[in-house]
Amino acid sequence: MKKLIDQITEIAEQAFEACGYEKKLGRVTLSNRPDLCEYQCNGAMAGAKLYHKAPIAIAKDVAEALSGNSAFAEVTAAAPGFINLSLSGAYLAAYLEEMEKDSRLGVPEAGKKETIVIDYGGPNVAKPLHVGHLRSAIIGESMKRIYRFFGHQVIGDVHLGDWGLQMGLIIEELKDRKPELPYFDEAFTGEYPEEAPFTIGELEEIYPSASARSKADEAFAKRAHDATYKLQNGDRGYMALWNHILNVSVSDLKKNYEKLGVTFDIWKKESDAQPYIPDMIRKMKEGGFAHESQGALVVDVAEESDTKEIPPCILLKSDGATLYSTTDLATLVEREKLFAPDRVLYVVDKRQELHFVQVFRCAKKTGIVRPETELNFLGFGTMNGRDGKPFKTRDGGVMRLEYLIREIRDAVYDKMMENRSMEGEEAGKTADIVGLAALKYGDLSNQAVKDYVFDVDRFTSFEGNTGPYILYTIVRIKSIQTKYEALENRFAGEARILPAATESEKELQLAVSRISDALITAMEERAPHKLCQYIYELSDAFNHFYHETKILAEEDKERQAGYIRLLGLTRRALETCIGLLGFEAPDRM
Ligand code: ARG
Repeated sequence: MKKLIDQITEIAEQAFEACGYEKKLGRVTLSNRPDLCEYQCNGAMAGAKLYHKAPIAIAKDVAEALSGNSAFAEVTAAAPGFINLSLSGAYLAAYLEEMEKDSRLGVPEAGKKETIVIDYGGPNVAKPLHVGHLRSAIIGESMKRIYRFFGHQVIGDVHLGDWGLQMGLIIEELKDRKPELPYFDEAFTGEYPEEAPFTIGELEEIYPSASARSKADEAFAKRAHDATYKLQNGDRGYMALWNHILNVSVSDLKKNYEKLGVTFDIWKKESDAQPYIPDMIRKMKEGGFAHESQGALVVDVAEESDTKEIPPCILLKSDGATLYSTTDLATLVEREKLFAPDRVLYVVDKRQELHFVQVFRCAKKTGIVRPETELNFLGFGTMNGRDGKPFKTRDGGVMRLEYLIREIRDAVYDKMMENRSMEGEEAGKTADIVGLAALKYGDLSNQAVKDYVFDVDRFTSFEGNTGPYILYTIVRIKSIQTKYEALENRFAGEARILPAATESEKELQLAVSRISDALITAMEERAPHKLCQYIYELSDAFNHFYHETKILAEEDKERQAGYIRLLGLTRRALETCIGLLGFEAPDRM
């Protein structure tokens, strides 16, 4: 189904043509002056130069040609040459009718279907999931769903950080605590135990204490480095331990992501990229891309047009060790081999932007990816506490994701108890659903790159631009639908969405009709916040209509049935969008 704006562009193009002007001048856009009209066309201004004619004269010609068209209630030419368009009620209602019949609500699929890898989540094995990883998971999940909705083939990859110093730290700390374990016995040749020698609780305690210890104790830090090196070179006992760390950690991570409604298609890890490194380095040397600089092996990635210095991408340190960039490049080698993606999107803290500029340039320059492969960085800002500093627990520690989710969920629960809207088990389940929506919407409604303040009171408010407000709107519609179904006297004929009778009804219909534009923008600009903005406007339009209209008491039964159809469509639009943002609505709240 064609988007409404494209349909009326077509009509305007025909009018330009009929008046003897170039067709392409007929492009229609949303109005800059919603107080005057809904859509506008600025083609007369561009036409003025082409035809050496006053823009207003062209605008008048075209407006005249359009005025008989049933799509418009009003067409006016306004100085200096705008064409203002207001849709006719019948046309808009017919468009919504068509939308309703379409399972995709009239949103067209992407013209060219891409294979897209999204690299998001990015937790580090054995370190607790903290709020820093929250944003990546939430934003990445939404982008995944949006791309899929348009028919792209998307592979969500969690890209675990499992190859760093944290492994050596844990191994050495464990060695001191449990020296009797066979993993540390070089002479041991038997089978290692299947059971991990620690629980997730212990693991989470081991890492921070080992990390603190390495800062104060140089000898220990050195040991951790050596252990990491030994592991990375395939020490049998250490590999077995690392496997335990990985398994215990991953099953905990999965549980946490599940609570967030975040799922990954593949659980690849930094270590999976390691086998690709030697060959990649060899090719980079042979291709003349890599050269030595102060003992390190680097690839220059600076470009003439750079306004600030972009340092070379380092592949190997002088001691031969690989780096974060080496792993990311090798990961691209693997992705190319497994999926040959058209696009790879990284959802990562914006402080890592320079790293990705280097990696992307290096990958393009050295031919790891094809010239046409899109490498995109979606960098996000920090989530701050109300003091404007990065979010911490009350005692100053890094806030764990689990606690954060609980905090917001409990705030919602308390609110529901205050309003005594529900009790018992239902209240608990509803608080889970609404709390998650509050958290996700609170995050997604901000432009990703900006820092934002995590404010439980604001996020859980039932009013304003919040998740609960959107859910409340959906719940309100559900409740009207249920009440309508219970009415005895309902319209017996075939109900249709009728031309709007009031301003607020027309505003609602227009808002519903714009779902395609909102979704396309959110996808193309990789901006879920634009989708939030849209559902906020749509909810406002609905609530305004609701307050001004007697729906259940309407006496004209055909009109009433039409309202119900419009409500149903509004609900589907809202539910589609929140599904793409990654949350759902309860039945009551
Ligand atoms: N594990 C990294 C971190 O916690 C994020 C990984 C991002 N993805 C990537 N391909 N580098 O900072």
